[in-house]
Amino acid sequence: MQSQTKSATKKILVVYFSHSGNTRVIAEQIKNATGGDIFEIQPVKDYPSDYNAVVDQAKKEITANYKPALKTRVKNIELYDVIFVGSPNWWSTIAPPVATFLSGYNLEGKTIIPFITHEGSRMGHSVSDIKKLCPKSNVLEGLPIRGSNVKSAKPDVEKWLKEIKMKK
Ligand SMILES: Cc1cc2nc3c(=O)[nH]c(=O)nc-3n(C[C@H](O)[C@H](O)[C@H](O)COP(=O)(O)O)c2cc1C
Repeated sequence: MQSQTKSATKKILVVYFSHSGNTRVIAEQIKNATGGDIFEIQPVKDYPSDYNAVVDQAKKEITANYKPALKTRVKNIELYDVIFVGSPNWWSTIAPPVATFLSGYNLEGKTIIPFITHEGSRMGHSVSDIKKLCPKSNVLEGLPIRGSNVKSAKPDVEKWLKEIKMKK
């Protein structure tokens, strides 16, 4: 079946955390374009909605390498070959709930594809941090999207998915 694209043969999961909604928009775009399943990472304790409060809390958690508990788990993660992992850029890295997620499963041999929404720092050092958490996975370079542009990002997201052979 050489004519089949990868997305036709590989089972895809789109996992994301979103505090203010931007990363969720991209996650939905990826889910629709790949035909994958989707899972939202939700911490047990919500982050504050006040901007300064969440910025302070995030800085403390990231500095302490803190991994907050999550509400739910993915059932049957072993079924998936490809996992898109979405996070806002928080202090140049992934948000702590995403670090909890990546530490909580055996992702050996799976392809991890990061997507990060940001306001200028692009991926920051998210990719190297994900590689440290998933040393036995194939972590791709991923896609940075400016948070304020998510609603008009669909063509860029679809072009990227086509390039990496993940579009259905
Ligand atoms: C705690 C916190 C830290 C942030 N740190 C950065 C940063 O270091 N670099 C950057 O470009 N944007 C930073 N941002 C902006 C977010 O990455 C951006 O608004 C993102 O799109 C939010 O995604 P969400 O709506 O899915 O939560 C930060 C936002 C918050 C709340």
